[in-house]
Amino acid sequence: MKKSKLRWLWENMEGYRGLYILGIFGTLLYNVLQLTVPFVTQQIIDLFLSGENAASNLETKRSLFFGLIAAMVLLTLFRVTVVYLDCMIYEKVSQAALYRIRNFLYNKMQRQDMAFYSVYRTGDLMTRLTGDLDAVRHMIAWVVRTIIESFALYSATMIYFFFMNWKLALIMLMMSPIIFGIIFLFKKQVAPKHKLLREKMATLNTAAQENISGNRVVKAFAKEEHEIEKFDQCNSEYSKTNIETSFVWLRFFPFVETVANLMPVILLVIGGLFLINDQLTMGEYAAFSGLIWAIANPMRNMGNVMNEFQRFDAASAKVMELYYAEPKIVDLPGACDIEGRLKGKIEFKNVSFRYEDADIPVLHDISFTAEAGQTIAIMGETGCGKTSLINLIPRFYEPTEGEIYIDGKNIRDYKIQPLRKSIGLATQDVLLYSDTIDGNIAYGDANISADDVRKFAKYSAAEDFISKMPEGYDTIVGERGVGLSGGQKQRISLARALAIKPSILILDDTTSAVDLETEKTIQEGLRHLDFDCTKIIIAQRVSTTKNADLILVLQDGRITEAGTHEQLLSKRGYYYDVVRLQTGEEDI
Ligand code: GTP
Ligand code: MG
Repeated sequence: MKKSKLRWLWENMEGYRGLYILGIFGTLLYNVLQLTVPFVTQQIIDLFLSGENAASNLETKRSLFFGLIAAMVLLTLFRVTVVYLDCMIYEKVSQAALYRIRNFLYNKMQRQDMAFYSVYRTGDLMTRLTGDLDAVRHMIAWVVRTIIESFALYSATMIYFFFMNWKLALIMLMMSPIIFGIIFLFKKQVAPKHKLLREKMATLNTAAQENISGNRVVKAFAKEEHEIEKFDQCNSEYSKTNIETSFVWLRFFPFVETVANLMPVILLVIGGLFLINDQLTMGEYAAFSGLIWAIANPMRNMGNVMNEFQRFDAASAKVMELYYAEPKIVDLPGACDIEGRLKGKIEFKNVSFRYEDADIPVLHDISFTAEAGQTIAIMGETGCGKTSLINLIPRFYEPTEGEIYIDGKNIRDYKIQPLRKSIGLATQDVLLYSDTIDGNIAYGDANISADDVRKFAKYSAAEDFISKMPEGYDTIVGERGVGLSGGQKQRISLARALAIKPSILILDDTTSAVDLETEKTIQEGLRHLDFDCTKIIIAQRVSTTKNADLILVLQDGRITEAGTHEQLLSKRGYYYDVVRLQTGEEDI
């Protein structure tokens, strides 16, 4: 992370570095070539227009005259070709580096822990992958090029000036330190503005993204006006910061512009004196005058370059943070693969867990055993830690204390990928991809047959409603597809979890939105799966829990009751109360 930003950029140009250096040489070349026209003009003026023997030279050296003109035309054509190729090189290299970094970042994000996604907001991550990366590309394609261009033009012109008349050149050169001083002060003031600007852009993107994905809530609460105002606020802050950032330059601009504009005046006065005193020829004066822009323009460019450089600085810091982010949950050295299928015995031994950003643990001293093939039901009030508990099994988070074993082996000793592939999970928030129903069900294993997809849909009581759709399994669902009801989505998500034939099936409130009849069908389906699996089912309904081999009641992150339906009823505790409430019976 401590790597310098430019070095990081250089590393990401791998494979294109040679081309980039060629591009830089090209920039040097075409800028030096800018001098050829004024140089040839100077020769023509001195030899054929204003020199002592101008008239006779035009007679005797006619071919030289035309030669010089032809050289001017050819060099101009050559220069245009170099500029053209050079632009292509910068474009190619910058796009290649961008492609590489973008892919790298995306891969990086795929491998991040769940905790990562609760820290970074979607809008912020999207900003890193779009706007920030564009600033990085701009650095390669424009900033570096403009610096080289300015440097080449300025130095070549200065050298040329020194050769023509060192005294006049020296006077011109004396203006440079003033410009550097101004630019230095400018940088100090503008750098924090660019950091702020970048933050405002991320906030703006986050506001837009949250609004778009939450559009149903907005509509339901008729909060459109409020959302528009909220966005307007972010937008106006972004806009204000943008203006403030531009205005920093405006404070320095008059000074730079004055110095730059003084150059022709100085040339006129001092150059004029030199001319009168015969210390400068007319041709030389014309060359000085024709090239004075080549000294003044790089000075003017410095502000823009510094602005863009600071934009790159702020953006690349964000990109690099992601680039070097490492997931905390990784395969331990010596972690083993899973040969064949897991049996599915799960043991929790004194497991406690606290979210990294929280002060108090959400799970305390959890111990239980699920034998292979058993069904475990977890019940408890909302927020008691059920989802947190099941998230520990696929190692989405690590317990802060205690251990979890699967088939007698600590889950930390398995490789993460095969471990997760052995677990079928239907999460509480159902997310379906913009794809066909068939594609969604087969997400975990693209090779399963259409018959199998149908079979898993049947287990999940989804076959009926899917086959009634006009396009059946080929119906596109998800963001832009047909709308599905909450219960329909849950059933597809269950079928998706089953389709990988997991050794462990975890259902987090998966049947909460389906009616009792359908739920019964699902329970039936789950009991007759054609593969062995241990099931952990989080549910609020007694109809789901009562057939479980073990019911765990979780209260404030602790297991307060554990046993079968009958055992818990006789305890007359929380479970008993829930059963009474749900069945409406006074006494059971
Ligand atoms: P329901 O799904 O509503 O039935 O609740 P649950 O039992 O699944 O609760 P869950 O395990 O999701 O949350 C338990 C506690 O952990 C709650 O107090 C949450 O506020 C907290 N919590 C959940 N996720 C996070 C997280 O990512 N970070 C932090 N810091 N706290 C979390
Ligand atoms: Mg939950």
